[in-house]
Amino acid sequence: MSNAAGKIIGVGRALGSRVVTNHDLAEVLDTDEAWVVERTGIKERHFADDDEDCATLAASASKAALAHAGIQADTIDLIVCATSTAPESMPSVACLVGEAIGAAGVGAFDVSAACTGYAYAASVAHSMLKSGAARRVLLIGADAMTRVVDQKDRSTAVIFADGAGAVVLDGGSGESGFVDHILGADGRMAPLGRAGHPGTENKLYQNGREVFKFAARIFPEMVEKLLARNNVSPEEVQYVIPHQANARIIHAAMRKMEVPEGSVVVNLDRFGNTSAGSIPISYPDIFGSFEPGRYVVTVGFGFGLTWAANLYRI
Ligand code: UT7
Repeated sequence: MSNAAGKIIGVGRALGSRVVTNHDLAEVLDTDEAWVVERTGIKERHFADDDEDCATLAASASKAALAHAGIQADTIDLIVCATSTAPESMPSVACLVGEAIGAAGVGAFDVSAACTGYAYAASVAHSMLKSGAARRVLLIGADAMTRVVDQKDRSTAVIFADGAGAVVLDGGSGESGFVDHILGADGRMAPLGRAGHPGTENKLYQNGREVFKFAARIFPEMVEKLLARNNVSPEEVQYVIPHQANARIIHAAMRKMEVPEGSVVVNLDRFGNTSAGSIPISYPDIFGSFEPGRYVVTVGFGFGLTWAANLYRI
């Protein structure tokens, strides 16, 4: 098979500098360790310091990914960043990353699809590589959710966190790379979750129960559909990397999927829900064990509502 494009040659992540435990939050909110762990699976998360934001985290993750790939920034010819928490409406985070890493002059834009952003942006990056419009893409997922969450709202303050992940994608065709994507959105469900821009009083709201039910249904459906239409058997899947929203969503989906035990990546206990950051943040822990010829499925879902999944051949 040689229809893949965008082999991952470097991965990196950056998290907010401040580690915040459930105990820390219980000191300022009417919550407790047992509720947060039982209902979400989160034990601690990282919050950005005052001098950090979505763009600085994205830039740090990008520098780490370039160093890991062992390449210079001037070999990148496109920067695509998934985010919904850019520090300002303009410029895009991708432009700020280009400046920070020394890749000015190349194409750079953001993709907005809330927690599904990385899975959407991966499909865009793949298309650009496949068409020949780009040869090496820096693909980023980054969010500073503390900038849009009301830290006095216990139902959301314990969940969302700050972080970014970046990958370097190389080449327009080859054995390894993205193969296929599912993208979906239904704006009729927009009232289930929304948030204003950073710095405004319009803080994040979600109907947690309804988003939960939707996510637990769409996640395994997408995995099954993506594998079936590409004739990939569940045993060929080495990793499923889901958006890290809630451990109960992930476990409910795992019960419905036939992928090998232990293939589903869970790290929200350490990082919480970093929205578009949550999938690419996962790569540094697993990239070194990638087995050529097997597959990685990445699965996003979130406000919009939006949903998307990507099939990647290692
Ligand atoms: O990433 C973007 C997409 N978002 C998602 O995928 C989120 C999906 N939803 C969820 O993860 C869950 O719905 C939540 C974790 C947000 C909430 O869990 P839940 O089991 O659905 O709780 P709930 O909202 O139904 O609230 C149950 C109770 C309520 O108390 P009463 O009304 O039963 O007395 C809440 O007030 O839990 C209470 N509660 C809390 N208690 C202690 C809510 N937040 C907290 C808290 N600590 N932090």
